[in-house]
Amino acid sequence: MRVLLVGGGGREHALAWKLSRSERLTKLYVAPGNAGTRAVAENVAINPMDFEALADFVASRRVEMLVVGPEEPLVRGIRDFFEADGRFGSLLIVGPGSAGARLEGSKDFAKGFMARHGIPTAAHLTVTRENEEEGLAFLQSLRPPYVLKADGLAAGKGVLIVNDLEEARRELGEMLRGKFGDAGERVVLEEFARGIELSVFALTDGRSYKMLGSAKDYKRVGDGDTGPNTGGMGAVSPVPFADEAFERLVEERVVRPTVEGLRAEGIDYRGFLFFGLMNVDGEPLVIEYNARLGDPETEVVIPRLRVDLLPLLEAMATGRLREVECRLDARFRVAVAMVGGGIPAAAVAVWKYRVWRR
Ligand code: AMP
Ligand code: GLY
Repeated sequence: MRVLLVGGGGREHALAWKLSRSERLTKLYVAPGNAGTRAVAENVAINPMDFEALADFVASRRVEMLVVGPEEPLVRGIRDFFEADGRFGSLLIVGPGSAGARLEGSKDFAKGFMARHGIPTAAHLTVTRENEEEGLAFLQSLRPPYVLKADGLAAGKGVLIVNDLEEARRELGEMLRGKFGDAGERVVLEEFARGIELSVFALTDGRSYKMLGSAKDYKRVGDGDTGPNTGGMGAVSPVPFADEAFERLVEERVVRPTVEGLRAEGIDYRGFLFFGLMNVDGEPLVIEYNARLGDPETEVVIPRLRVDLLPLLEAMATGRLREVECRLDARFRVAVAMVGGGIPAAAVAVWKYRVWRR
């Protein structure tokens, strides 16, 4: 099988590494890739948001499977784009269409979805400039700290957690007036969940699903989990404080109802699901959905996979996921980021440059 993997992070390196070991692989391209993917695949200089260029490449190289790593192309409809083009009727695509990616692309949609399907999450109110007064009153009704989330994609920067009520009220006003651009036209106000955070991953073909285990990323720059947030300094899988009983609870209360809910809403979701969770005294609460794998979590989740990834993805894309097995190694995997000076501010600039402007 000839595969094109879209993205340029550590996540794509982990996926490329695993795919490169597949007996079923004949050629692997990564757009745009990075220094790591170059060692196991062929990098091609195409921006993940340039759907036309990706389509021309897929057509000219007779690519059979498209695997989408990052959220932005998913939320902006890369699957819909390929499905609308008659040339790609038999192309297998890993990643949901824009309807499914709204789980990540709109926090308001995600909260509504969880409410409709009885999935545990923190109490919330969605605020626009029309019901700003109601938003201020809702803030008043909460205990600090206050959680304010821009509805749309904001490159991981759209969530504010503030201790002071006056500051929360001021931030709400600023968000509604363009602090995060269009992403903040709607703001989701949320009750603060007290617990310990972790992520759980799954793969679904829209009907059945496979659990891919838990992981935790450590985002703060300093030793001992101190200092400013980064894109992730490292990760571990499985998560030591999420035992099998907790993972089963997540499967019962979160993963299965999510897959069933998507189906009930007529959303044909084929791809990865990433559940951002809070473990509150042993009970899982969903903090966020992502329509993709995590970065750096993929670096610790994918190496635990004890089966060939390519047939698993193929079965998922063709709706036969139920027929294949998925086994995970019980041993721990740990990833540590090595970074240049100046992180987080300087490193973010480098990452953006590498991924999007190459
Ligand atoms: P998100 O982009 O939704 O993952 O939010 C960014 C971070 O904010 C999360 O990783 C959590 O650490 C924190 N967070 C988000 N929502 C809540 C909440 N309701 N309660 C506590 N912490 C939260
Ligand atoms: N590591 C968090 C994320 O990928 O969103």
